Amino acid sequence: MPPVLEARQVAKLFAKDNHRIVALESCDLVVKEGTFVALLGRSGCGKSTLLNLFAGLSRPSSGQILLRGAALSGPCPGVGYLTQSDTLMPWRKLHRNIELPLELRGVERAERKRRSDQLIEMVGLKGHEGHYPRELSGGMRRRASLARMLISDPGLLLLDEPFGALDAQLRAEMQAELLRLWQGSGRSVVFVTHDIEEALVLGDRVVVLGERGQVRLDVAVPLERPRDLDDIRVDPDFVNMHRQLNRALKGGRDDVIPAT
Ligand SMILES: Nc1ncnc2c1ncn2[C@@H]1O[C@H](COP(=O)(O)OP(=O)(O)OP(=O)(O)O)[C@@H](O)[C@H]1O
Ligand SMILES: [Mg+2]
Repeated sequence: MPPVLEARQVAKLFAKDNHRIVALESCDLVVKEGTFVALLGRSGCGKSTLLNLFAGLSRPSSGQILLRGAALSGPCPGVGYLTQSDTLMPWRKLHRNIELPLELRGVERAERKRRSDQLIEMVGLKGHEGHYPRELSGGMRRRASLARMLISDPGLLLLDEPFGALDAQLRAEMQAELLRLWQGSGRSVVFVTHDIEEALVLGDRVVVLGERGQVRLDVAVPLERPRDLDDIRVDPDFVNMHRQLNRALKGGRDDVIPAT
């Protein structure tokens, strides 16, 4: 499979009060078309910075970001990005937030409503169409943002901790919906999470980023799909990988394993 996304020796620096913050340094990551990559890493290691670069919302300070082999110069229509923080428009009701990308493209009202109704159902927000974001819970807003991202039918999905605010049952339901959307669709997914179990349930591959976005561990997940968390928790492969990922997250130097 050809790469859909490539970070090649990427550095990203920020300037703050005469200090330089190195968010990413020599970051190398290749995501192959059609695959589901889960990204793990401690807080502040540069996951969101990397996703912003992949989404074309910011430029690397040095190195290259390639989308399907071409240098990325800005946001692309086929790339959906669910950012870590909420970007719903407070003055728009739920359904109008979700329909916004189609409205901007001039899609007619009936078609917009048909698509948003489908997605509202899928993310479990039926009955809340007329609510403003402030009238929704954090988890509901997150699901609304997901629906807004999906309405454009992107081929590449960048998701920054999409299900962190959800209760366990809802999280499992949303994971299943996401997998249903992804499997056999040819879509590619980069999914940031803090949760090792979530990474193992979802990913074809799990990548652990260390400080400044350096790949510390990059492993294929050999578990068969569908993966039911209750079943795979006792699978020896799962137990081993969980341990390995946990060690890599804690970050002893001995745990550094080169990317495959
Ligand atoms: N706009 C910015 N200006 C200054 N520093 C920034 C900016 N964005 C990120 N940083 C810094 O870059 C580093 C990486 O931040 P980033 O948000 O990518 O981390 P993260 O891995 O997503 O963390 P978390 O898991 O907490 O979301 C941090 O030290 C952060 O303070
Ligand atoms: Mg982040």
